[in-house]
Amino acid sequence: MSIRVKLLLSYTGMLVLSLLMFILTAGLFTIASTGDIHGLRDFYKVHYRLNPLTEQEESIFLELKSMAKSEPDSLHDEALLRDYDFKLRTVRAGLYVRRENDPIFASYTFHQPELDKALPPYDLNNSQIRNTFNINERFYAYAKFDFTFTDGAKGSVFVIRERSPFAELSRKLLPVLSLLLIGTLVVANMLLYRWITRSVVKPLNLLRASAERIQEGNLQFKLDLRSQDEIGLLSEAFENMRQRLEQSVSLRLRDEENRKELISNISHDLRTPITSIKGYAEGILDGVTNTPEKLERYVGIIHAKAVDLDKLVDELFLYSKLDLKQVPFTLERTDAMRFLDDCIEELRYDLEERSIAVVWDRPPGSGPLTVKADREKLKRAVLNMIGNAVKYMDKPDKRIDVSLRANPESVTVELRDNGPGIPPEALPYIFERFYRAEPSRSALTGGSGLGLAIARQIIEGHGGRIWAESEPGVGTSLFFTLPRHAHEGGADPHGPLADHRG
Ligand SMILES: Nc1ncnc2c1ncn2[C@@H]1O[C@H](COP(=O)(O)OP(=O)(O)O)[C@@H](O)[C@H]1O
Ligand SMILES: [Mg+2]
Repeated sequence: MSIRVKLLLSYTGMLVLSLLMFILTAGLFTIASTGDIHGLRDFYKVHYRLNPLTEQEESIFLELKSMAKSEPDSLHDEALLRDYDFKLRTVRAGLYVRRENDPIFASYTFHQPELDKALPPYDLNNSQIRNTFNINERFYAYAKFDFTFTDGAKGSVFVIRERSPFAELSRKLLPVLSLLLIGTLVVANMLLYRWITRSVVKPLNLLRASAERIQEGNLQFKLDLRSQDEIGLLSEAFENMRQRLEQSVSLRLRDEENRKELISNISHDLRTPITSIKGYAEGILDGVTNTPEKLERYVGIIHAKAVDLDKLVDELFLYSKLDLKQVPFTLERTDAMRFLDDCIEELRYDLEERSIAVVWDRPPGSGPLTVKADREKLKRAVLNMIGNAVKYMDKPDKRIDVSLRANPESVTVELRDNGPGIPPEALPYIFERFYRAEPSRSALTGGSGLGLAIARQIIEGHGGRIWAESEPGVGTSLFFTLPRHAHEGGADPHGPLADHRG
């Protein structure tokens, strides 16, 4: 059963219930105003019109009627009439006897001078013996019997009862009021039904339609239901879910795009050395190398290209593993200064060969600065950075400044060279894979464009940050931070730390 039908049923139920309640109340009200339960029964009976008097009044009336038929002249007897009137008065009614147009007896119950005029005329056929009339605001019901006295005069006997004007009024107004009330109830119910339908059923339908759209794979829409009720909350949750889905789908698409690009870059970068190797090898096969020197040169080039290729494959492999977060980080307590010394020591041959001076700017008077590091990987990152400084150096007075700053949380290392610098427009991209600021120069110097991308993966894998500042023509500064180890000055700063990260 749909909510719509349920709502309709419940509203109709409420409507019927309220009507019943209303009828019950109206009934009780009538009993209260007329004073007896028969009043209720008589309230709308046709019988009521014909028989507007109560049973006792009616029986007295019948007695009077039979007397008027059998011995009409006894209705001249004032004592008798007073007696009857007394009986009637006990049931709140009164007697009125008319001869021709003059009253013989009029119960003083009524105190109504206009009664004579209000009463119906003589009618021997007695076609309408029961009816009501009103004098000004007051309502009366009567039973009448017309007869002839023995002398032929027209006589009428009336049993009259004054009725509550309120009862009469409600009798008249009740149908109108009832219709009005029912109308109001129906209209109110319709409005309520519409309201609930709008605030519940419609949003639910919208939600369903949205779910269907998602099912069809369409996530590019916005569910905009700004109500504050449960349905609003549900819609909000639904909208959040849609956004998450959309994000994850677009992330997946981007990843896919990334991977495609990576593969195309890799193929391109592998092809260059392979083409060279192929060319030189073909030269040898074709007998171009007719002298031993030429052969040696060709083989030398092939060897160098193979070494390049090996390095490239190695870097690609490392980068892709880092990118997929497949290499675990084995973090150990490491003294940052000693570690940097080790790195520089490793490059000493390269540095001396190119007569590059490394100038250390050690923080004054400090002990060991312990950081958490995967030494092997971190060395790789630092060597990539210093390697760039060495590789791109273009000044006669070559210099690399190493400085270290520490705060309670982290250690920041700066590696500054006085090389060519990096153009500002290239600076934001140098940490992206395969990015080379000046491809023509890089072609000369060699390099995959993966060095800094690998360095960034490694530094971020340590929970650190890497960035660069550069002034073209003046030099480049590469900075990276590493989180400090909490308990400094331990017995063995190079000791293993049971913290493995992946
Ligand atoms: N110290 C530096 N001086 C000048 N340019 C640099 C320096 N370090 C990096 N770059 C620029 O950033 C680019 C990216 O560096 P990297 O990722 O190591 O790739 P590459 O294999 O080209 O060295 C380099 O191609 C170079 O243009
Ligand atoms: Mg490099």
